[in-house]
Amino acid sequence: MHKLPLLAGGLALSFNLMAAVPNNEPVQPIEAAKATDPAKVELGKQLFFDPRLSRSGFISCNSCHNLSMGGSDNLPTSIGHNWQQGPINSPTVLNSSLNLAQFWDGRAADLKEQAAGPIANPKEMAFTHTLALDVLNSIPQYREAFRSIYQKDEITLDAVTDAIAQFEETLVTPNSRFDQWLNGDAKALTATELEGYQLFKNTGCVACHNGPALGGNSFQKMGVVEAYQTDNPAEGVAGLTGADADRFKFKVPTLRNVELTYPYFHDGAYWNLEEAVDVMARLQLGRKLQDEEIAKIVAFLKTLTGEQPSFQLPILPPSTAATPRPQPFE
Ligand code: HEC
Ligand code: HEC
Repeated sequence: MHKLPLLAGGLALSFNLMAAVPNNEPVQPIEAAKATDPAKVELGKQLFFDPRLSRSGFISCNSCHNLSMGGSDNLPTSIGHNWQQGPINSPTVLNSSLNLAQFWDGRAADLKEQAAGPIANPKEMAFTHTLALDVLNSIPQYREAFRSIYQKDEITLDAVTDAIAQFEETLVTPNSRFDQWLNGDAKALTATELEGYQLFKNTGCVACHNGPALGGNSFQKMGVVEAYQTDNPAEGVAGLTGADADRFKFKVPTLRNVELTYPYFHDGAYWNLEEAVDVMARLQLGRKLQDEEIAKIVAFLKTLTGEQPSFQLPILPPSTAATPRPQPFE
């Protein structure tokens, strides 16, 4: 007889907790990866990890977008072919399918278009598309995989970038503690983290960092209230349009997994989240936050780390006598 009221009380309690979670938030949970073509994804994964797409035979997509390190390289700017200093910080590939466009200045419309860039970029993988395709075409296992998926005898750049993009679509990070909270688990966040989220909203960060990725959906000026000091020559969208109004406009980076993707900003100049939050509050919003407020916002930002993609490391098919040789030391 005691069981029934207890049960009813429990139900009422969980109902109240649910009701206490506001459902009209400016941030939405990350959806799990859509079921895509598993054979394509597997092929794209191999290509993502294959350093033979570079001139040196040493640099793969994973070199600069290390999936063991939040999909980034944790360097201020990347190291490219011949140890060249890269021009800009490497953004994470995690959740990049949610971006309105790719690159800091948005010059690639989507992941497929983006994937052709680094292979032929002299400062990244420094190859030519023709040579990269020669390498792949010289490897029977790759030819067979491409033939069975794309129904063509020759491997094309279009198929290569399509497979890589399909793999990247799976690199989402659902089920962070913040998403658990958004989905109704009121206990998923501590009081401090929740206060951090309220501050993040009330200070005005959500004006630019919103949506499921908390960013990636608009281009905004870096230095709205106060100019950003940097030696990095990148001009943002103005580099494409030449328009003065686009100077220092960059794609707003996602804040998902941000605790893993240091150092911060397009020049990678700030290593600590505390510093990055302070810079943002001052330069974008004209607010000088107290250390205690910054600590709360950082505590919130760390709840945005989701489940990292996990899979078996792909084993790559070996080169053959016909495979063009790598040129690591020229
Ligand atoms: C040498 C380091 C390096 C290599 C190798 C490299 N990338 Fe990148 N990647 C970068 C940098 C740096 C940027 C930012 C460039 C910019 O915005 O101008 C970038 C940008 C991107 C973006 C856009 C993300 C965003 O938020 O805008 C994606 C996606 C991406 N790379 C995927 C790849 C893939 C796929 C490969 C392999 C074919 C690859 N990268 C190889 C350094 C690298
Ligand atoms: C006016 C739009 C805007 C507002 C408001 C804004 N940000 Fe940003 N945020 C950006 C842009 C643009 C960048 C990239 C700037 C760059 O790299 O030069 C950025 C970068 C960041 C980064 C670094 C991410 C990375 O991977 O490099 C963090 C962290 C961040 N913002 C947090 C915040 C916080 C916290 C607030 C509120 C105090 C805030 N932002 C307010 C537009 C904004």
